[in-house]
Amino acid sequence: MVYTSHMEEPQTLSLHFEERGSGRPLLLIHGFPFSSRMWAGQQDALSGAARVLAPDLPGFGESPAVDSATVESYAEDCVALLDALDILEPVAVGGLSMGGYIALAFARLFPERTGALLLLSTRAGADSAEGKAGRDATIAKVKEHGPGVVAEGMFPKLLAPATYSEQPAVAAELQTIMATASQQGVVAALGAMRDRPDASGLLAELQAPALVLHGTEDQVIPHSEAEAMAAALPHARLELLEGAGHVPNLEQPERFNQVVLDFLANS
Ligand code: MLT
Repeated sequence: MVYTSHMEEPQTLSLHFEERGSGRPLLLIHGFPFSSRMWAGQQDALSGAARVLAPDLPGFGESPAVDSATVESYAEDCVALLDALDILEPVAVGGLSMGGYIALAFARLFPERTGALLLLSTRAGADSAEGKAGRDATIAKVKEHGPGVVAEGMFPKLLAPATYSEQPAVAAELQTIMATASQQGVVAALGAMRDRPDASGLLAELQAPALVLHGTEDQVIPHSEAEAMAAALPHARLELLEGAGHVPNLEQPERFNQVVLDFLANS
């Protein structure tokens, strides 16, 4: 499905998104460098409890790219999607990793539209100076060699060590998903992550119920980040998925879906 946003005239942006179910809206924002396809195991499983909306961010999956982006512009794209669907009531906003950075920007910019937050395999802090320099180096590499260098570099760390050997189909699916990321989309997202603000101070002000979910074997973002967020949020439930890596919804879909369904039922 495609909608058209006129957020930044005269640019017109059409984002692809997947939609399943009805009732309470649940927005699922994908991580980097993935697409809405990463939520394939959630769309049907959660559709009995929510209207699940999963956009492809600009330059990922089937959405056209933009020249530059910020976590705020991605959050605005998500709100434009909700507006286009006439969803004006508060929604549950979930995001994995980069999607979590965007979910936090959404909560900061649109508190009245944030009914609940799902912070999945993410962190509240900004990039360190070293992290920002790393983003710049990666942008230079992507410009020279194409987006595949990101997938290649990240792949060995994305899953729990055991997932690679025990669930090779999950590893293959992740590579398929990453292969759809465009050069322009990857460069824009790296810039957005590099420049994102520190959201740590925001957490104490967030009144929406929050689910903070993280794999104990996450090799990209340590689970101590989730523990710190849950401690700072006034209404948080912390779930550490034993043995899961950075993409727990793919690695342990049944457990993941059960935790999300419990959270939605109680928030
Ligand atoms: C992600 O998984 O979305 C990214 O790796 C997060 C990051 O690079 O900070």
